[in-house]
Formats: sequence, C-alpha cells, structure tokens
Amino acid sequence: MSVVLQRLSRHLWPLALANLVANIGIVVTGAAVRLTGSGLGCPTWPRCSDESYVAHGELGVHGVIEFGNRMLTFALAAIAVLCFLAALGAAHRRATRLSLVIGLGIPLQAVIGGITVLTDLNPWIVAGHFLLSMAMIMVCVALVDELRSPDRTAAPPLPRALAWATLVSGWVVLYLGTVVTGAGPHAGDTESPRNGLDPATVSHVHAYAVYVLVALTVALLVVALRGGHPWLARVTGLVLLIEVLQGVLGWVQYWLDLPVGLVALHMLGAALLAAGLARIALAVLPHHAHHEARADGQEQPRAATRLP
Ligand code: HEM
Repeated sequence: MSVVLQRLSRHLWPLALANLVANIGIVVTGAAVRLTGSGLGCPTWPRCSDESYVAHGELGVHGVIEFGNRMLTFALAAIAVLCFLAALGAAHRRATRLSLVIGLGIPLQAVIGGITVLTDLNPWIVAGHFLLSMAMIMVCVALVDELRSPDRTAAPPLPRALAWATLVSGWVVLYLGTVVTGAGPHAGDTESPRNGLDPATVSHVHAYAVYVLVALTVALLVVALRGGHPWLARVTGLVLLIEVLQGVLGWVQYWLDLPVGLVALHMLGAALLAAGLARIALAVLPHHAHHEARADGQEQPRAATRLP
C-alpha cells in the first residue's frame, strides 16, 4: 500500500490542479443545468425519477443534462480521493488536511444538490449550493498555494487588513449575485419559485457592492506596490482584471436581458474571482515550502518554489 501511496505522491501537484479545475468546471456544468431549465430534469433525488436511478427517455433532454451533471460528482470525488492519497503518500500534513476537506465537501455538495431538487429549486438553497462551490474552490486554491508558492513572511497590518476586507466584500458580491439570480428568469426552471425581490433593484445593489470591491482591490494594489510586495501586487492586479471584466459582463448581460451564454460566462467569472480572492487572502499570510526528510538527515523541498 505504501508503495502505491509513494508513487501517487509524485502526482500530488497535477492532482491538486485537477481538483481546482474540476471544481471550477462543475460550476459551468451547473450553469448549463440552470440555464437550460433542467434543474428538475431528474425530478427527485437520490434516484433520478421514482422508477429509476438513471435518466430515461421520458425525461427528455433535461433529464440527460441534469443526470450528466450528477454523474460528474463521481469524477470530482475520484480526483479528490486520489489527491488525498497522494498527499498522504507525500507525508504532507497540511495538503492531506486540505484534500480531506475537499473530499468531504463533494458528498456534502451532492446532498445539498439533492435538497435543491427535493425543495423544487428553492432559490435560497440553490444559492447555498452555489456559494458552497465557491468555498470549495477557495480550499482548492489553498492546496495549490500550499504546494507551489514563493516562500513569504506575513504582510504588514495595512495590506493584511485590506486583503481581508477585499475577501469579505468579494463574498458579499457573490452572495448578492445569487440573490439576483433567485429573483430573475434563470432561477432553475420556469416553474420554480423565485425569492420575490425586484430583479432590477437587487441587480443595482449587487453592482454597488462590486464598486466597493473594486475600490478595496485598487487600494490593496497601491499599498502592495508602494510597500514592495511584488507577489501580493501581482495576485491583486490579476484579481482586479477579473473584477473589471466580470463587472462589464454583468452590465452587458443585464442590458441584453440575460442571454444564457453571457450568464454562463458570468458564473465562470464568479468562480475565477473566488479563486482569486482566496489567492489574495493567502498572499498576506506567511508561507514556507514543505520539506521532506531525506535518508541522510538533510531536508529538501518537496514542491518546487517559484520566486515572485
Ligand atoms: C466582480 C464583479 C461581479 C461578480 C463577482 C458577480 C457575481 C455574480 C454571481 C455569483 C451571480 C450569481 C450566479 C448564480 O447564482 O448562479 C451573479 C448574477 C448576476 N449578476 Fe453579477 N457579478 C459581478 C458584477 C455584476 C455587475 C456589475 C452587474 C450589473 C448589474 C451584474 C449583474 C448580474 C445579474 C443580472 C445576475 C443574475 C443573472 C441570472 O439571472 O442568472 N453582476 N453575479
């Protein structure tokens, strides 16, 4: 067993990346479910219908789309288990803990996905399902950061405070986005309940929160550049770019009455922003590359560390 784990440990980095890509990918396939009105394509859970665990002809294309998304859970679970075993094999305690959290989050998401179906796509539960995906993406980023990031010391109080404020306001934007969705036409399918709020009003509140987020990110970028924190500045610059593109996309989809292609892109943008926010929060914390004990008593870095 330990030989298998050791072999697997060589693939820890690609598996960590695969975890991240798969958790972002399932947001996009989840978008396909919602935007094709297939949220109740399989009308019950854990079975697809009362008679069958799998989609069948009577459920039509919506059944295939929803069932396909359910099946992806198994691919995500397989990657998470392999990643956990690879981290165990590498004797990397923090990576083991993080990949365990990712592995446990997947069945939790499957159950919440099931509850969304059983509650006929209650918009608040759909929102919770989406936000948990954002949290999972952040944990995947923490794992990637743990394995390959430059060694760094803790940032001084000002950039640290700004980074945490950016993270919090980013979460507010993500949450408000789900409230807009719950009020609008793409909340799951045409029959599913809405949250009863006025879509135009909540869209504007969502956009105001974005302006606060952008202002905080610009402030952090300036502080990082002036304070000589190149890694933090680089990460923050990238996140600012995502925010601006996502903001423009948000307005364009609003003016064009929410074409499904743009809404799907907006969900991908939200997933990328979640990843970026996690990167910012981690960039102000200290980090030291994991070291593996060698037979000769020396230590060698397990994960290659890049300089900023
Ligand atoms: C950093 C910028 C932004 C982020 C991170 C963001 C994030 C989100 C998120 C997470 C959702 C919900 C997705 C879902 O529930 O599936 C959403 C929906 C939405 N956002 Fe944004 N958003 C941003 C900017 C904007 C802006 C500036 C507008 C302009 C009004 C906007 C308009 C909308 C609309 C109309 C929806 C509902 C789409 C639907 O009905 O499916 N967004 N946004």
